[in-house]
Amino acid sequence: MCGIVGYIGEEEATPVLVNALKKLEYRGYDSAGIAILGPGNEAGAGHSLVVRKAKGALKNLEQRIATEIIRGTSGIGHTRWATHGEPSDVNSHPHTNVSGKIAVVHNGIIENHAKLKEMLRESGVTFKSQTDTEVVAHLVDYFYKGDLFEAVRATLDRIEGAYALAFVCENEPERIIAVRKDAPLVIGAGKGENLIASDVTPLLEYTRDVYYLNDGEIAVLYRDRVEFFDREARPIEKKTSRVEWDVSAAEKGGYEHFMLKEIHEQPKALADTLRARIKTYATKTINLEEIGFDASWAQASRVVISACGTAWHAGVVGKYALERFARIPVDVDVASEFRYRDPIYDPKDIFIIISQSGETADTLAAMRMAKKSGARIIAITNVVGSTLAREADLVMYTWAGPEIAVASTKAFTTQLMCVYLIALKFGHLRKVIDDAELAKNIEALEGLPALAERLLAQKEDIQRFAARQFHKTKAFFMGRLFDYAVSLESALKLKEIAYTHSEAFAAGELKHGPIALVDESTLVVAICTQTALFDKMDSNIKEVKARGATVLVITWEDEKYFDSAADEVFRIPRTLDPLSPMLSVIPSQLYAYYCSVMRGNDPDKPRNLAKSVTVE
Ligand code: AGP
Repeated sequence: MCGIVGYIGEEEATPVLVNALKKLEYRGYDSAGIAILGPGNEAGAGHSLVVRKAKGALKNLEQRIATEIIRGTSGIGHTRWATHGEPSDVNSHPHTNVSGKIAVVHNGIIENHAKLKEMLRESGVTFKSQTDTEVVAHLVDYFYKGDLFEAVRATLDRIEGAYALAFVCENEPERIIAVRKDAPLVIGAGKGENLIASDVTPLLEYTRDVYYLNDGEIAVLYRDRVEFFDREARPIEKKTSRVEWDVSAAEKGGYEHFMLKEIHEQPKALADTLRARIKTYATKTINLEEIGFDASWAQASRVVISACGTAWHAGVVGKYALERFARIPVDVDVASEFRYRDPIYDPKDIFIIISQSGETADTLAAMRMAKKSGARIIAITNVVGSTLAREADLVMYTWAGPEIAVASTKAFTTQLMCVYLIALKFGHLRKVIDDAELAKNIEALEGLPALAERLLAQKEDIQRFAARQFHKTKAFFMGRLFDYAVSLESALKLKEIAYTHSEAFAAGELKHGPIALVDESTLVVAICTQTALFDKMDSNIKEVKARGATVLVITWEDEKYFDSAADEVFRIPRTLDPLSPMLSVIPSQLYAYYCSVMRGNDPDKPRNLAKSVTVE
């Protein structure tokens, strides 16, 4: 998704902005650009505004800047993920008004851009690009009477949609103006310099002190201060928050790709996410004070989970876990469906909204709808200060650290850890599981980081298997119960980064249609960790084998059940059957990663995808 950066200070802005844009590459983009305000750029005298942009990778922009040097100590930059108009130089941001004195960068969608375009055309504006964003530059110009702040405010009254916007104006080189509504924007408070960015990662090199902008707020950045206002131009007092992430956590640390690094960080991420919630009194117990867990939870008659993509898959695991451990009905739905399907609410419901970024547009919309129902809203997110974290009633953080690769890995397993903790605690409260059962499960959860470490030590087995299979164009993942949920996530990983057509099936569903697709060219990955259903899985494996498929079974390390039926068996360390997803997904993450690399793809930045989907 688009990324925004801005800088005002004493340094040359161009390298700062390009460096910051590099940190946002992971969000996905197809072009990039910057606008710099500097003394004497091109115009010769006074301050002038110069824009450079280029389709494709950031290095194209860097090459352009290397030959067409621009100087200046303030500016804005952008990585674009095309929504309106193809990826091209002209559609790249920043966009400017007709005279080229005002520039804007935008993340989001201006929903009423067509109507505004018509109005601006009638007033004599000729549009250069096919984007929705260009209307914003012209609209600010339309309202500009010598005060950028007032022109931006007037523009905000006219535009509809989601946006994080940053503006610079040649006549007012001393400031940058930034606003947000339903799209992320963070402000870095430096010493003699201030910055903006779509998330904190580009800011860490300069400062750890950040301001989080709320919807509808306007920030005015000067070199030595940042001022905040509401839409009516009333000043707002804001305090900085300290970001505890280490810069190195957002770097590759010797791994070839962020994704491989993040897969390997799972033991630590699981341990960090768990440690904060286990307390020892007389015996070990789960402490969920952060989400207001107390006896009042017993009033709930239903849990509703909503999320997108991988986070939704964590929700599917959550449904199985909550039903198993807490015997409470659970509805789980993708947020894009939930928000439009007129769901039935009960104020006694507990909503769990899951999102790594905390900025996914559909997920936020689902959360806001649910909030209106009066139900309790629990957010599970990885990003402190994200919109979801700020708007939900209560937050449970996944302590995964920054996840940079587009394909989610450690965020998923830590989301699982959170839903299991809720399920077990809830089950204990509802007296579905007793003290001994709770203790047994806590002990098993505590053992998982070491088991994940041991599993990762066998990664070459998956790499060798991938070397034999990566050319396959069709892969099916199948399983039952928790293994079905993991199949969904496994198929998504392979689609996202290897671009292999992969599907997930509840194994029992195969014979109701999908088996017609199985032939010698099909790879079937059968995830088999639910011991009570081994016989059923065995029959399903035989059915696909009989149609010529190659079968990889993922099962427990000491399990021989599938040795004769499978072409290959990958063994994972043993834990309790219901807790298997936190381990059984790891081979699929590795398989997708190796297939992606072997196919010559960039697993960190897969085509057409964005890390954080802040538009519908
Ligand atoms: C995961 O690999 C995907 N990139 C994607 O499905 C992601 O999980 C989804 O967009 C939701 O993102 P969120 O967790 O940040 O809300």
